[in-house]
Amino acid sequence: MALPQSIIARAEALRAEIEQHNYDYYILDGPTVTDAEYDRLFFELQSLEHEHPELLSPDSPTQRIGGGVLAELKPVVHALPMLSIRTETDISDAGAIKFDAYIRRELGLDDQAPPVEYIAELKFDGLAINLRYEDGRFVQAATRGNSEVGEDVTHNVRTMQHVPLKLRGNAPKVIEIRGEIYMRRSDFDRMNERQMAAGEKTFVNPRNAAAGAIRQLDPGMAAQRPLSFFAYGLGESSGWRTPDRHGEVLDALEEFGVPVSKDRRVVHGAHGLLAYHRDIGERRDRLPFGIDGVVYKVNSLRLQQQLGFRTREPRWAIAHKYPAQEEMTTVLNIDVQVGRTGALTPTARLQPVFVGGVTVTNATLHNEDEMRRKDVWIGDTVIVRRAGDVIPEVVAVVAERRPADARPYAMPATCPVCGSAAVRLPDEAVTRCTGGLFCPAQRRQALLHFAGRRAMDIEGLGEKLAEQLVSGHLVRTPADLYKLGIASLAELDRMAEKSASNIVAAIEKSKRTTLARFIYALGIRNVGESTAQALSRSLGNIGRVAKADVDALQQVPDVGPVVAQSIVDFFAEAHNRQVVDQLLAAGVSFAETSTREVDTASGAYGKTFVLTGVLPRLTRDGAAQMIRDRGGKVSGSVSKKTHFVVAGEDAGTKLVKAQELGIDILDEAGLLNLLEAKTI
Ligand code: IVH
Repeated sequence: MALPQSIIARAEALRAEIEQHNYDYYILDGPTVTDAEYDRLFFELQSLEHEHPELLSPDSPTQRIGGGVLAELKPVVHALPMLSIRTETDISDAGAIKFDAYIRRELGLDDQAPPVEYIAELKFDGLAINLRYEDGRFVQAATRGNSEVGEDVTHNVRTMQHVPLKLRGNAPKVIEIRGEIYMRRSDFDRMNERQMAAGEKTFVNPRNAAAGAIRQLDPGMAAQRPLSFFAYGLGESSGWRTPDRHGEVLDALEEFGVPVSKDRRVVHGAHGLLAYHRDIGERRDRLPFGIDGVVYKVNSLRLQQQLGFRTREPRWAIAHKYPAQEEMTTVLNIDVQVGRTGALTPTARLQPVFVGGVTVTNATLHNEDEMRRKDVWIGDTVIVRRAGDVIPEVVAVVAERRPADARPYAMPATCPVCGSAAVRLPDEAVTRCTGGLFCPAQRRQALLHFAGRRAMDIEGLGEKLAEQLVSGHLVRTPADLYKLGIASLAELDRMAEKSASNIVAAIEKSKRTTLARFIYALGIRNVGESTAQALSRSLGNIGRVAKADVDALQQVPDVGPVVAQSIVDFFAEAHNRQVVDQLLAAGVSFAETSTREVDTASGAYGKTFVLTGVLPRLTRDGAAQMIRDRGGKVSGSVSKKTHFVVAGEDAGTKLVKAQELGIDILDEAGLLNLLEAKTI
């Protein structure tokens, strides 16, 4: 019996509507229905298809999930070979200039000829894929393989919501869309956290995780890996008017509903390529996914054809890389570094390796548990990561390369600097030196903290000088800084009289400060900038802070029992009280008193915020300052006490935790609104 027309029509309408919602959500990033509404449509379609199996078609949105486990991946002969591109060996800016000069030479352009038009794109760090559509329907996905023959991974790619099962608009008869399958950093982190929680193995980097997922035999497994896709070119195509420029091809793909990165740019001449390379280089760490460089392509398809190929690579394109952010090296030794609060941080001493643009010789292992979790031993081959200004860290061990004489590292029982006992409290991850300011390492760090930009802001007092001052016994406590004369400083190694007098002037200048900065500079355990500001506002002078008991301190907004106890402990030490008195006697004074008007009417007043991800306009520090100025508190971690999480691009685990705890989540605009909102 034929299906009633009304049922066929209903199924069609449901599919179209679901596709539209998928497009809005995954491609445009702007959902227009609630999850519940979406689920209802999806369930209705599933039920219809279940009752009338004749309705089923492979491009129905219900067909993404499911499908049987394959015995093997089948070979696919590419209609057009999947070529790769040349990589410019010069990773400096000169690479862009060389490419432009090469293209001009090949095209026979003299100096008078106008600049060549290029399109500059990101070089996504994933794996290449060919998506074949016939009459607008997704029919096959294949990996690059050896460029002539790839593997059929249709079953896995079908599970990817970013890949449309049907093209929008006037789709060509046949079109092969080429691009990169990759994983966003936040998706990768979340997935690894899930893996860890389930006691499964974690992945070393997003690219490996994506490549592994796409070659799975079981589509159910692939569906659990959060994969994304960006198109960057074409394979075979017929039955449409091919555009004249590569940039127009990408625009057309975008109109077909395929994801194309917005970070592509049409530029002119070497100058344009250079500007793009610099711009992306500067933003690289803030992109929500990894790239290993940029790609320059001659924009005109006619000129591309004229330039042709050199062996297997097009002459019209080149990859211009950035310094790698991850490299392999060996762990020569492991020891501990002593921090300001006495924390002993296990640190890997490495065979020097060039990574993230600098030579790295040390990488942090964070703490004992992290070191055990990653299972880092002395002698291991490890992957080291350095991105932006972040301290280099060991990401993972290459287990297969562990030599027979490798050995694990045991945390020391005593501080390697001062010999005091090192203890790890039962509920803490950190092992600490108990030497306090008797320990020269802690003294040096305390001095650095005191002089820091956000504390007393003593310009010129860096690591090196702090070390010299402590080891030369010129300074034992921060108060000693204010007794330093030009003569004693000038005696230090490599210190000219001029720099000595600059330092003395900077120390003198630091005397005029604010109470909040001063409290923060003291380096009391658990008292960060926010707490220091709250104490300053509520208690108004240092004497009151020093004398307050635990109960009184807990009256201060957002000071809980732990922080209150830390403050009481600090001032219970005669030595600390003495340092404070000496500082005041030396002339440290406070420009701004606690009575400064706080905007108590702001919606942020008395609320605790956690900032995560990259905001479109505000910097992290800027946003934090705005919150504090309105009497809010900024905390580093999400807990039940958090009122708002402000999430930007590439927000990671903090956002997930906020969702789990049901905490209000704001974007930048939401934050700005709240800051201005008046509480009634
Ligand atoms: S174009 C014939 N554009 O980098 C030119 N490739 O060898 C074909 N890749 O594995 C490549 N981002 O998967 C092109 N914007 C981009 C790319 C890109 C990443 C990958 C590609 C291939 C390798 C180039």
